Amino acid sequence: MQAIEEIRLRLDGEMQQLENTVAAGEDGKSLSRRYEEMKVRYLGKKGDISGLLRSMGNLAPEARPEFGKLVNELRDHAEGRFASLQERIQEAEIAGSLAGSALDPSLPGYRVPLGSLHPMTQVREEIISFFQGLGFEMAVAPEVDNDWYNFEALNIPPDHPSRDMHDTFYVDDKVVLRTHTSNVQVHYMETHREPPLRIIAPGFVYRVDNDATHSPMFQQVECLVVDKDISFANLKGTLFLWARHMFGAESTMRFRPSYFPFTEPSAEMDVSCYFCRVRPGEAGAGCRVCKQTGWIEIGGCGSVDPNVFGKAGWDPEKYTGFAFGFGIDRITMLRYGIPDIGHLTRNDNRFLRQF
Ligand code: FA5
Repeated sequence: MQAIEEIRLRLDGEMQQLENTVAAGEDGKSLSRRYEEMKVRYLGKKGDISGLLRSMGNLAPEARPEFGKLVNELRDHAEGRFASLQERIQEAEIAGSLAGSALDPSLPGYRVPLGSLHPMTQVREEIISFFQGLGFEMAVAPEVDNDWYNFEALNIPPDHPSRDMHDTFYVDDKVVLRTHTSNVQVHYMETHREPPLRIIAPGFVYRVDNDATHSPMFQQVECLVVDKDISFANLKGTLFLWARHMFGAESTMRFRPSYFPFTEPSAEMDVSCYFCRVRPGEAGAGCRVCKQTGWIEIGGCGSVDPNVFGKAGWDPEKYTGFAFGFGIDRITMLRYGIPDIGHLTRNDNRFLRQF
């Protein structure tokens, strides 16, 4: 027992000395060395405290439990003191390395401005991740494309009146800036195996168009699903799920009959207005954004026209499908209440900082 007390006194004395040296501002590196040496001397395998435990064999059996308990207390005491001294030595080392340098760690730091994703990128990624969650695969197609992919293979021959609906940028007679992402459908059918397939394809498209809700360069997201027995009901069900996810459980949707040369039947999909949130059809429904109707158009959709399969070489008797193409700019405007589509491309930081 006396041996234990002696070691404790010696340890406390040496510890106090070392602490005084730290307080006096001695070089941190030499302190570290002394600290390590001392720690080995007391707590190392051949150190004083282990030596006490080894000596226990020489004691009478009845004295051993009490002795062991006191040695363990001494070890805990030593470990605690070494840990707190180590912290102080590390602080002294840092202070030493800063002394004399031009760096003043007491000055306030600079705020690093954090960037964020563009609102349209956020919306695009949300759409993609939703459809990937349903097992859709991503697909892409060129933005500068042959007339064939943008029009003809989609059942829009050169003299077809629906070409007037797309105010096209022509590169030359046969090459266009794609007017919609529907060219993805043709490229995909041409290069991929037979159905089943489920793809989602976001991308930039171009039209000679410019006002508060139309931009010459905008983004669409295309979807194509082809398999046996795909019906218009599958299209509605998928879009219903998506609209709920995107615009909240309160939202409702409707399909308006429409015309696209590559789908039959075709529809425009409207979502109940995200701003006024009044149920369509209720008295007083509507606001400026939905032009007092309570509905906002998102994009076009329909069952794939059998002619389009014929051009891809797939048997239209065997397969059916659905497709849609939505404007990401419009969805973003709706989502965040942006009144002018131009804000999305002006790169004004006052606008972008809000997202
Ligand atoms: C099409 O582009 C068809 N390809 C959609 C489609 C795909 C139908 C698959 C059937 C099957 P539309 O021209 O209506 O359809 O354009 C779709 C959406 O793109 C519009 O509802 C609108 O949200 C957006 N859009 C169209 N023109 C512009 C523009 N100039 N600026 C911003 N968004 C636009």
